[in-house]
Amino acid sequence: MSPHDDAPVHTAQAHTAHAHGQGHTHGSESFDFDWGVLSNQLEQEAEIRRPVYRQAAEWIAGLLPPSGARRVLDIGSGPGVVSVLLADVFPTAEVVAVDSTPELLERTAARAELLGLGSRVSTRLAELPDAVNTLGEADVIWAGNSLHHLGDQLAALEGFAGRLRPGGVLALLEGGLSARHLPRDLGTGMGRPGLEARFEARLAEWFGAMRSELPGAVRETEDWPALLTAAGLEPSGTRSFLLDIPAPAPPLVREQLVRTFARLRDKNLAEGSADDGEILDRLLDPEDPRGLLKRPDVFLLEARTVHTARKI
Ligand SMILES: C[S@@+](CC[C@H](N)C(=O)[O-])C[C@H]1O[C@@H](n2cnc3c(N)ncnc32)[C@H](O)[C@@H]1O
Repeated sequence: MSPHDDAPVHTAQAHTAHAHGQGHTHGSESFDFDWGVLSNQLEQEAEIRRPVYRQAAEWIAGLLPPSGARRVLDIGSGPGVVSVLLADVFPTAEVVAVDSTPELLERTAARAELLGLGSRVSTRLAELPDAVNTLGEADVIWAGNSLHHLGDQLAALEGFAGRLRPGGVLALLEGGLSARHLPRDLGTGMGRPGLEARFEARLAEWFGAMRSELPGAVRETEDWPALLTAAGLEPSGTRSFLLDIPAPAPPLVREQLVRTFARLRDKNLAEGSADDGEILDRLLDPEDPRGLLKRPDVFLLEARTVHTARKI
């Protein structure tokens, strides 16, 4: 939905006082969230996007020197779906899942154990950016949907760059094209065409407000290769990966969409248009034949962008 994908789903709920050291609000809007409460949702979202993350990780593996990776840091690792995937793609590496939310790290450890990867996947409770210097060295640093949760993104990138070994690669998953799930026109009696585009525009506003409230927030041009260069690294390519699940979408995608749209309602993002609020209620109604759980035309199409840079 949002240009940052997690905005409606997790950013939108997930700025905990513990994650940022203090509560923060924007007008009547609160950006205090509990990431732990979102565990199931984060896990489900990452599961749906696993094929895309695998393609990205395999591409990154090809950017490394022939010696490969001995140590991988997964920054803001969430439920660990990607951490274990990284352990699979980098079979000679130790993977360290780094996050400020203990519940998510527990999930990560349990997942790694279940998959027989417990000896190569460890967890590290760390509040970034302050703890960056305690993370040790790495050949690969993956920061997936996490950098934008830090106020000073350039300072954070400099910290990550400082952890990379020569030849090592930093991969940032930021931006891309927002997920779309519904036809432009939902049909007669279903409001004005363009509902998701309107939500996306409102979410962009929300995202800007959320970022401006982060501790130490610095506004940057989101030119990621330029920021990676400013952090002392050499850009090694940007690629976008398509997630294309055609209609009729499977139940997992629909469930995730229901949660996403419910958050839009919670955040009053359908405000300002009586019509949109009413249509959102219908879409969220599990009994409505034209609701998200029943309509045949629900799909998932999005592009995730990964920016990479090397330590010379
Ligand atoms: C949007 S989730 C991304 C999870 C995972 N990378 C993925 O793509 O599935 C962001 C994660 O960053 C973590 N996080 C947020 N602020 C943080 C901070 N200041 N220090 C460390 N982790 C943080 C949250 O706990 C959450 O797990």
